[in-house]
Amino acid sequence: MSTNSGGDAADQRMVSPKSRAEDAPLERSLRPRRLGEYIGQDRVKGSLEIFIQAALARQEPLDHLLLYGPPGLGKTTLAAIVAAEMGAGFRVTSGPAIERPGDLVSILTNLKKGDVLFIDEIHRLNRVVEEVLYSAMEDFAVDIVLGKGPAARTMRINLPRFTLVGATTRLALLTGPLRDRFGSVLRLDFYELPAMVDIVTRSAGVLAVPISDEGAVAVASRSRGTPRVANRLLRRVRDFAEVRGEGSITPDIAVRALAMLDVDGLGLDDVDRRILNAIIVKFSGGPVGVDTLAAAISEETDTIMDVYEPYLIQLGFLQRTPRGRVATANAYRHLGMTPPATSEGSAAGQPSLFDEFGVDG
Ligand code: ADE
Repeated sequence: MSTNSGGDAADQRMVSPKSRAEDAPLERSLRPRRLGEYIGQDRVKGSLEIFIQAALARQEPLDHLLLYGPPGLGKTTLAAIVAAEMGAGFRVTSGPAIERPGDLVSILTNLKKGDVLFIDEIHRLNRVVEEVLYSAMEDFAVDIVLGKGPAARTMRINLPRFTLVGATTRLALLTGPLRDRFGSVLRLDFYELPAMVDIVTRSAGVLAVPISDEGAVAVASRSRGTPRVANRLLRRVRDFAEVRGEGSITPDIAVRALAMLDVDGLGLDDVDRRILNAIIVKFSGGPVGVDTLAAAISEETDTIMDVYEPYLIQLGFLQRTPRGRVATANAYRHLGMTPPATSEGSAAGQPSLFDEFGVDG
């Protein structure tokens, strides 16, 4: 069975390619392996517990499952946990990695009964491959075409009953037919602070780095409600503690280390601030279309939408409106600027007289 780190755009935040590659095995070692060790996402965990128990009692594979939510919240981890709890094999791939129907057929025909196949970024599957997946999910069979032209024949290959766990950061980009073939669709939310503190404390234990309760709060509160970010920051703070401190993580060490990484008190980094700053300064607070915004700060539109916006929206610093992105009054204040008198109105997303000629959404 192959595994990978479930890499996505969030992996690229704030780390050089070198440190990213070095961190990957460590990141995996920090992941919980069983549902009992998994902290937070109580609603999702509760549903999974029931699905798993019921499937085990019936001695059947689990129904196909779709997990969605911002990157770094544990979709890959949960898929691996589902496999472990079911006592099944785990196979990992991703939408963009499956280029041709043949690639998918070869993955599917190598599965064993009950295996969990995890497809990350499933919204990026191409249409031809997606069509093959439909019959695989529904009938546990694929039809392959042998030969060309008039002599072409189709042959049906039966597959073992398997469980597909799909993951996406963009539920809206999934086609209806694909979405409908999942038995359940579960949304992962940003983690609350107490869960983040527990995750940081657990990870520090795994890394055998001493951390005070306040030190854990300092790291957790700057981790954007995202365990992957927390674990990455924890490793950087550990480096700082070993070189500049006594090796243990205190709030002072955490705050100094994270300030050095340009991470502020709410966990915003340089790119977050450039996004807000551009909306406010270059586009008078918005609305501004996301493509225009991306061009203005030289970032990818997808990265802005998948990685940065969800947390800025969660913080109440940014709004998506039909006419584009708008910075809220709180965003101005966070950047040390005074919101314009009218920005409360626009921050609440209420159209003003002057919004009539807004640009791309
Ligand atoms: N490490 C990363 N995510 C975690 C989680 N949800 N619970 C425990 N440890 C984690």
